[in-house]
Amino acid sequence: MDSRIPGFYDEDRETRTATVAERCGLADDAVEALETGGDVELADRLSENVVGRIGYPLSVATNFVVDGADVLVPMAIEESSVVAAASHGAKLAREAGGFETDVSGPYMLGQIQAVDVADPHAARGRVLDAREDVRALANDQGVLVSHGGGCDDVTARVVDTPTGEQVVVHLVVDVCDAMGANAVNTMTEAVAPLVEDLTGGEVSLRVLSNLADRRLARARCRVAPADLDHDETDRSGEQVRDHIVDAWAFAAGDPYRAATHNKGVMNGVDAVALATGNDWRAIEAGAHAYAARDGYGPLSTFEVDADGYLSCSIELPMQVGTVGGTTSSHPTASAAMEVLDVESADDLAGVFAAVGLAENLASLRALVSEGIQTGHMKLHAKNVAAQAGAPDDLVDEVAARLVAEEDVRAGRARDLVEELTE
Ligand code: MEV
Repeated sequence: MDSRIPGFYDEDRETRTATVAERCGLADDAVEALETGGDVELADRLSENVVGRIGYPLSVATNFVVDGADVLVPMAIEESSVVAAASHGAKLAREAGGFETDVSGPYMLGQIQAVDVADPHAARGRVLDAREDVRALANDQGVLVSHGGGCDDVTARVVDTPTGEQVVVHLVVDVCDAMGANAVNTMTEAVAPLVEDLTGGEVSLRVLSNLADRRLARARCRVAPADLDHDETDRSGEQVRDHIVDAWAFAAGDPYRAATHNKGVMNGVDAVALATGNDWRAIEAGAHAYAARDGYGPLSTFEVDADGYLSCSIELPMQVGTVGGTTSSHPTASAAMEVLDVESADDLAGVFAAVGLAENLASLRALVSEGIQTGHMKLHAKNVAAQAGAPDDLVDEVAARLVAEEDVRAGRARDLVEELTE
């Protein structure tokens, strides 16, 4: 499969869908699921008090090479420019071989909180001494063990809180290819009585931690300065490269900028999460908590390597699954997974990291050269034209005129529609 599809952006929607279906070998029902987004009965089963559905655009980003394999990436997002940026970042990386990824392992953490412990430090020792019993009890639940996973380790900490010291026990759980929330939460509840006995306190919270720092995904890529040359500005590729490094340094030195820098990363990551039915709130929580571990900073790093290439890397917690949850039960998410065609949750996590890095790279490249508004306005102009009542065959023309006149406003769009339809 080749993820390079020149002109994909300019095709009509039906042709794009057919191209993706053909390249990814999708059956008719998968294509239908991509196009319809599931039905309202399914929505009613997924949540409570359902009255309808909201349709998000489901797009496919092109050009990705991840660990030597081409991959088309489904992205669900309403913000224009995000999918184009991901495809552009992937194209820049592709020229030098694409993205290399690795994942630290599918380990989620479950927390059991014990309060009112008379001797928290000794209690911690008693828990650690009995860690095999705690681990065995967690694994007695049967979840994950039959898949080769389960609770691998037990740790304990004394946490100083505003209401005094608490003992916090962590279960380190190999969740295999699941996101793992249900399995981990089941285990934390099961071991709670034993933790209560061991600590002599009262167990209160029993739930996973979204700071999944035992489940880190990393991606890296390189870009030659020549590929960063940009016609619309006078800057050379080397200058663009160096300004990207300065932009990263800005984020490393200033949390106000780091928040926006990471927002750019998460534009890509969240869009893949939504398309594949993964829990984007968990991923968001983990990413920002990880970014704040030594004072809030950027999730990615940009340097210049020994060959003068821009060297780009990212590391962030990635709590995603290929089995269970909405990924399996929602036909559109399942079809999106077919487009991605990954083998395991670790492989999926690597793709997420690559997409976050591609998105970030493209945002910074645009920000340090022509700025982000030019591309954004081109896409936004189409929405403005359609909202102003331009018939389908005139949307592109009205949008092009709005951009050329540098006046992308509803009033001007309405005038143009009137003028062109007279
Ligand atoms: C906009 O959604 C995201 C950016 O602001 C990210 C960034 O500034 O790096 C373009």
